[in-house]
Amino acid sequence: MSIYQPAEDSYLLQKELITFLKNKPKTIKILDMGTGSGIQAKTCIKQGFKNTTAADINPDAIKNLKKIKTIQSNLFSKIPKQKFDLIIFNPPYLPLDKREPKDSQLNTTAGKQGYEIILKFLKQSKPYLNKDATILLLFSSLSQPKIIKQKAKELNYSLTKLAEQSLFFEKLFVYQIKTKN
Ligand SMILES: C[S@@+](CC[C@H](N)C(=O)[O-])C[C@H]1O[C@@H](n2cnc3c(N)ncnc32)[C@H](O)[C@@H]1O
Repeated sequence: MSIYQPAEDSYLLQKELITFLKNKPKTIKILDMGTGSGIQAKTCIKQGFKNTTAADINPDAIKNLKKIKTIQSNLFSKIPKQKFDLIIFNPPYLPLDKREPKDSQLNTTAGKQGYEIILKFLKQSKPYLNKDATILLLFSSLSQPKIIKQKAKELNYSLTKLAEQSLFFEKLFVYQIKTKN
């Protein structure tokens, strides 16, 4: 299966990740969900955050990552019960386009509406978050942001927009998401 190569979305999230990690204790526990090429997990490790785990559904992405703790998993299905301080996710965030090959849909397609996998992720993340944990999540203007934000609020999360980037046919957003105390 093809491994997603870093693109504008990856770099936008990476930039916010580096800012976020500044002044954080190096011991924090981090999960990079949908790691792909491993860009976000490698960024954490390079900044000295060694307690980083990378997960992806794609076995080829997992095989390709050396020297990083990895788990092949459909979202949290194979992630052992534990608490993270930071979960990063650059998910598949586009609505289904049937003309796209199945192979690359795994990297791009969130579901028919463009948000399904994101809502599942937000729901499944809950028991994996430490009390003061943060999620860094990227999505697009094509992912139906209103629905994502509404669902996140229903799940008792608070959201802060960290970054926005306009591309040719969409806008990308990075949000910081936390559980309300
Ligand atoms: C847009 S790519 C992002 C890759 C990388 N994190 C980056 O920032 O460049 C989405 C990634 O999510 C993975 N993915 C798709 N569905 C998944 C699922 N159900 N569980 C875990 N990972 C999934 C894909 O294999 C792909 O590597």
